[in-house]
Parts: sequence; C-alpha cells; structure tokens
Amino acid sequence: MTNKRPKILAFAGSLRERSLNKRVLKTAIRGAEDAGAEVTSVDLRDYPMPLYNSDDHERDGFDENALRLQGLLVEHDGLLIASPEYNGSLPAALKNAIDWASRRSDRYERGKIFRGKVAAMMTASPGSLGGVRSLAHLRGVLTSVGVIVLPQEVAVTFAEDKFEGEGWEMTDERTKVNLEALGAALVEMLRMTRAGS
Ligand code: FNR
Repeated sequence: MTNKRPKILAFAGSLRERSLNKRVLKTAIRGAEDAGAEVTSVDLRDYPMPLYNSDDHERDGFDENALRLQGLLVEHDGLLIASPEYNGSLPAALKNAIDWASRRSDRYERGKIFRGKVAAMMTASPGSLGGVRSLAHLRGVLTSVGVIVLPQEVAVTFAEDKFEGEGWEMTDERTKVNLEALGAALVEMLRMTRAGS
C-alpha cells in the first residue's frame, strides 16, 4: 500500500453562503482528514462560469474559471461533493460546472480530469427526504464522465434542525458519525485503488 496521502477536492453544489450542504460537507471533510487525506475545499461561487454554449466556447475560447476548475480536478484523486436537491435533481450550477470541466481544453489532458477519480456524495435538505432523489442523478452524471462513485452516500433530512442556528458544527451525533464515516470511506477506497501507484 502506498503511503502517499490521498488528495481530495471538496465542494458543494450550492452557491449559498450559509448553505446547509456546505455545512454538512465540513463534517465529511473532517472524516476524510482524520483518515489521512489532504483535502482542498473550494466554493463554486469563486468559479463563476457562463452557461455552457458550444457556440460561445468556439468563439470566445475556454472559460478561465472552468480552466481553473479543470486544473484543480487534475491535481486531485478523489471528490467529496455535497449537493442540494433542486426539483428532484442536482442544481444547474453544479451540472454546468461539470459540463464545462468535461470539455476538451488545450491546457489539461482530458483523461486526467474526471476519469478514474473516486467520489463520495452527500446531500442535505430541510425536508423529510433530505434530497435523496438528487443523488441518483448526480451519480449518473459523475459516472458518465468516468468517475467511480462510492456505493455509500448520505442524505441529511431536516438538516436545519441539525445545526445550532446558522452554525457550521453538526449537532446531531448520529449524522455526524455518518458523514465522518463517508469521508473516511472515500479515503479507504482511494488507498485501495491507488495501492502501488
Ligand atoms: C429546492 N429545495 C428542494 N428540497 C428538496 O428536498 N427537494 C427538492 O426537490 C427541492 N427543490 C428545490 C428547488 C429549488 C429551485 C430550490 C431553490 C430549492 C429546497 C432546498 O433543499 C433548500 O433550499 C436547501 O437549503 C438548499 O440547499 P443549500 O443551499 O442550503 O445547501
């Protein structure tokens, strides 16, 4: 087994500052770090990009923020993604970022952006289903760009009640354990799949 620390890129599918998903992600990140990963956490708000339109892409070239995102993806082995459910699916901002990053640019080798990366997904919602319907959609999208998605996933139901006000620390002990375990499971899978590399 390699001793190299797995590198994980963590981000939420929400652009909201006090996003429940960003707050939930924080606990999963801690689980991954405690399991020995090096985690880079980014906010998609810092990577605004136009809605993908191949006419604009041809005319204006590759969007600079999409290129920055590609660069980050190339540097990491794993992905920790916490995404809200919007009308039963993933938010447009997240899908758009994945769409941009999946396009060929002349700066990065396409096969190193998504292919063979391992992802763990979670979702949080104030509602009783926790956003669980979105996970199948996100899994499908990630799989279609070549990402291996862990079978384990977490949907945090009634998420507003699981923090102290707008705080960042998860107060529900059971959910905390589940999220930390998800982060740790991603690290374990990265260690197994990258053994000897
Ligand atoms: C929602 N929300 C929502 N919640 C849910 O459980 N299932 C759903 O299908 C939807 N659909 C939906 C569509 C749109 C356009 C919005 C803006 C919201 C509510 C959603 O879970 C809630 O706003 C969360 O707080 C969003 O996550 P963040 O931004 O807090 O991470």
